[in-house]
Amino acid sequence: MTERPLQPVRHDAGSVQPAAPAPVSLRTQALQALACVEWPDKLAAVAAIDDAAPVRADAVLDDPGGLPGRPARPELGPPSQVRQRSVNTVPGRAAMLHAIAHIEFNAINLALDVIWRFPGMPDAFYRDWLTVAREEAYHFGLLREHLATLGHVYGDFPAHNGLWDMAEKTRDDLLARLALVPRTLEARGLDASPLIRDKLARAGDAQGAAILDILLRDEIGHVAIGNRWYRWVCAGRGLDPLATYPVMAERYLAPRLRGPFNWAARRAAGFEPEELAALAAADEQARHDAEARPRT
Ligand SMILES: [Fe+2]
Ligand SMILES: [Fe+2]
Repeated sequence: MTERPLQPVRHDAGSVQPAAPAPVSLRTQALQALACVEWPDKLAAVAAIDDAAPVRADAVLDDPGGLPGRPARPELGPPSQVRQRSVNTVPGRAAMLHAIAHIEFNAINLALDVIWRFPGMPDAFYRDWLTVAREEAYHFGLLREHLATLGHVYGDFPAHNGLWDMAEKTRDDLLARLALVPRTLEARGLDASPLIRDKLARAGDAQGAAILDILLRDEIGHVAIGNRWYRWVCAGRGLDPLATYPVMAERYLAPRLRGPFNWAARRAAGFEPEELAALAAADEQARHDAEARPRT
């Protein structure tokens, strides 16, 4: 459904004046921000989303095409083409910070996408993801500013599109989206954050390490939001959250999660002890399989 068109209003006999425009819904504003191509426009659009706007949870919005809006650079390629460099050199550190900035840019788009694409959820669902979009925009801004101190801008290094690929695969099923984006890919960030933070600290980048601390703090909240609504959708469909996760992971070819895991952060993000035990068991099995495989 598109927003209501302007209707002329008859005020008195003979004169016709335009009505005040109907407020653009929160979900349509999210779609408009998602479509923004250049990062300054996207950040401005996210900041300008009106919290007081009606959510219009039941509206089915048309895909305008060309989503997500993103700048011509960085160039996107397969993960194997994105070169890992030593964080102990300035170019290596810049490349790593750029990779994280790219994740945050994607994360803005992912949060906005959930808001417009999936109708029929409670208003609190959309407001939660708007909070996430704003925090991702903040993270992107922190990294962009830090990258500037190293003489680089967003777009300077090639990047991969793994996060958005999963969004594409799960575009038709909110349950799969929640299972595999916040609860898998974002949760993997919880595991990776302390390692990256320590690398930056060891390289003498105190500012970079401080940014990683902020990211980890906020990402726990994002995964918690993913967990809460994943369980809510499971409950609505009469599904067991624990048993449903591996079904989704297999159906959509989610990356297999490997340790070390940040158990404290995962607990803080609302994973249940049974889910953490299943994760540990799957990791153990994967290690066992790798060791048992004949070496060539
Ligand atoms: Fe983030
Ligand atoms: Fe996030």
